[in-house]
Amino acid sequence: MKTPAHLAAMHDDSALRAAFARAFGGRAPAALARAPGRINLIGEHTDYNGLPVLPFALPHAVRIAFAPRDDARIVLRHAREEHPPSEFIASPAIEHDPPGSWANYVKAAVEHFARLLLETSGAAARGFDALVDGDIPQAGGLSSSSALVVATALAFCEVNALSLPPLELASHCAAAERYVGTQGGGMDQAASILGAPGCALRIDFFPLAATPVPFPEGWAVLACHSLVRAAKTEEARAEFNRRVGECRVAAALLGRALDRPEAPRLGDFAKEFGTAACVRALGEAVPPDSKILARARHVFEEAERVAEATRALAAGDMRTLGRLMSDAHASARDLYEISGPALEELVRLFLEGGALGARLTGAGFGGFAIALGEEDPLARLMAEVDDRFYRVRAPARPLEELRFIARPAEGARVVRV
Ligand code: GLA
Repeated sequence: MKTPAHLAAMHDDSALRAAFARAFGGRAPAALARAPGRINLIGEHTDYNGLPVLPFALPHAVRIAFAPRDDARIVLRHAREEHPPSEFIASPAIEHDPPGSWANYVKAAVEHFARLLLETSGAAARGFDALVDGDIPQAGGLSSSSALVVATALAFCEVNALSLPPLELASHCAAAERYVGTQGGGMDQAASILGAPGCALRIDFFPLAATPVPFPEGWAVLACHSLVRAAKTEEARAEFNRRVGECRVAAALLGRALDRPEAPRLGDFAKEFGTAACVRALGEAVPPDSKILARARHVFEEAERVAEATRALAAGDMRTLGRLMSDAHASARDLYEISGPALEELVRLFLEGGALGARLTGAGFGGFAIALGEEDPLARLMAEVDDRFYRVRAPARPLEELRFIARPAEGARVVRV
């Protein structure tokens, strides 16, 4: 029997196919690529330090209808008018659009995979016509941009008969996204590609590995936009990259203190020496109120919380998971300094409303906050947040695009039509 979710997906697919035909002179698409966004339960700013995360794939996704062309041109249309059309040649060196342009995420994937194709088979890239749509809220820290990179990579690989195992595909997508200038880790692309229905994913890095952890029936996450934009290619990029730089400085100082000059990441030290020894060694190298020390402490302690949270989730101990999420939020606010007044207000409303745990999710600097709970109480909590947050701060905005309740959904895929 078809579930309502299947029926909704079929409806979306046929609307996307029809929109493709309208955009490309009646032509039918050859296939559809779909890549979900993600929520991160816990493990923030650990990935690029080589330490684990615990996200899940959302039911919300970027979807691309596409058909191969006989030349190397990529002809892009977006279903939403605010995203202007774009055309460029698929090659291993593609000129950037101005920062903030949606086409840069498509260019990121095409440039990277065109280079890979050339290096692995000597072949030049074949282009495609593509119509993009999606329902992941943008600039909200739910990986709408990585989902666009992943969906584009899937379309490119399908058109160019490039076949990669999922973990390799995820690593390539993470490398591809550096094109936009953010020094992110690999969480978002891996969560989108490897997502499994009903499961969170414990993801490890260097080397990339993913283990599904069942998320118990009846439990879910309420996700609410703080109404503060967290756009990766705009204001938040400099702040994000500054945090990455601070972690590199911390790793370099530890390398000197612990005589491991070539260890590149905080994770290398955590694995060899443990949190306490690392914090002590760094504390002797910098003043006690140093930002470098605060950032590194967050990273080391967050990795320990991820390990504990993974065990709690696997045991169905949602109370412990919730407590760890709230601790992670306090650390993100006080040590990593990536929260803000609107996110704080949401987290306070969540906890006052009975959530088991609450925190910002994603890079921070705005975007979404999440609350953990059972499905029915979360629905009541959502109604309360509508009244006390959105109806006060954004009375004219449609609520559907600002908040939702979600459980883990499936990962990215291509469907031939
Ligand atoms: C962004 C990056 C991820 C990760 C998070 C913070 O989403 O793309 O790689 O670093 O921020 O945890």
